[in-house]
Amino acid sequence: MFQSLSGKKVVIIGASAGIDLAVAKKTAELGASVVISCSGNKLNQAMESVSGQIEALAVDILNEDSVNALFEQVGKVDHLIVTSVAEQKLLRSPIADMATETAQRGMEKFWATFFAVRASVKNIAQDGSITLTSSISIFKPSKLGGISVLSAANGAVAVFGRTLAAELAPIRVNVIAPGVVVDTGVWSNQSESERSALEKWGSEALPVQHLGQAEEVAQAVLSLITNTYLTGVILPVDGGLTVM
Ligand SMILES: NC(=O)c1ccc[n+]([C@@H]2O[C@H](COP(=O)([O-])OP(=O)(O)OC[C@H]3O[C@@H](n4cnc5c(N)ncnc54)[C@H](OP(=O)(O)O)[C@@H]3O)[C@@H](O)[C@H]2O)c1
Repeated sequence: MFQSLSGKKVVIIGASAGIDLAVAKKTAELGASVVISCSGNKLNQAMESVSGQIEALAVDILNEDSVNALFEQVGKVDHLIVTSVAEQKLLRSPIADMATETAQRGMEKFWATFFAVRASVKNIAQDGSITLTSSISIFKPSKLGGISVLSAANGAVAVFGRTLAAELAPIRVNVIAPGVVVDTGVWSNQSESERSALEKWGSEALPVQHLGQAEEVAQAVLSLITNTYLTGVILPVDGGLTVM
């Protein structure tokens, strides 16, 4: 279904789990040489779970020196995929009580994305691509309390991506906006009863009648990487959440 990525180098930031680990598996299956990176602890485990040409490099996406060093080591890049999540659950707060430090940390995802793009852009092939990760919360404000600043960070990532699509052309720049994708770190601390309630909601309320899987988002990322007519897209991968 997707064109071969043989001879292409794909760099994925945040690939020890979730959506990006699924992207690592799929790009490796298509023949790419894949660099996975995350903060370190789970790198070996992630590497062992992907077959193909894989290199694993540690990076702290929140530290610009670390991100710069990663791309000096990596060299030429054909496709860059950036996701990164800090401790989002710890950064939720109702706006009236939100500490300035919490709000500033809530924007970390934007800064991490900025560090990655700035450090890599001179290495990205002119026929290559950048895929950034936002959230469906930019289109459908969540009833979950306390995520106003986290949603603002996702909005910043999305607008950053669309603007870069104009600035960096012919390099293509796209953004995915995942909905509720449950086999990921973001949802890993749920109790059994919370998970059952979420699954019930997914099957009854979502048009596709199920919650999202990382593999489904990875397929969307592969479309953005391989379709040479796609740039400046913010792609909801949400099971129809925004049409409810
Ligand atoms: N899952 C959802 O329902 C959902 C919904 C909307 C948006 N999203 C977005 O999708 C993206 C991926 O989320 P996910 O659910 O796949 O998350 P995940 O399973 O928790 O994966 C996050 C990845 O980020 C890495 N990471 C965290 N802190 C890092 C740091 N300081 N430096 C380098 N790597 C770091 C983690 O690796 P280590 O911990 O090993 O470093 C891990 O590989 C995020 O941007 C998230 O906001 C997800």
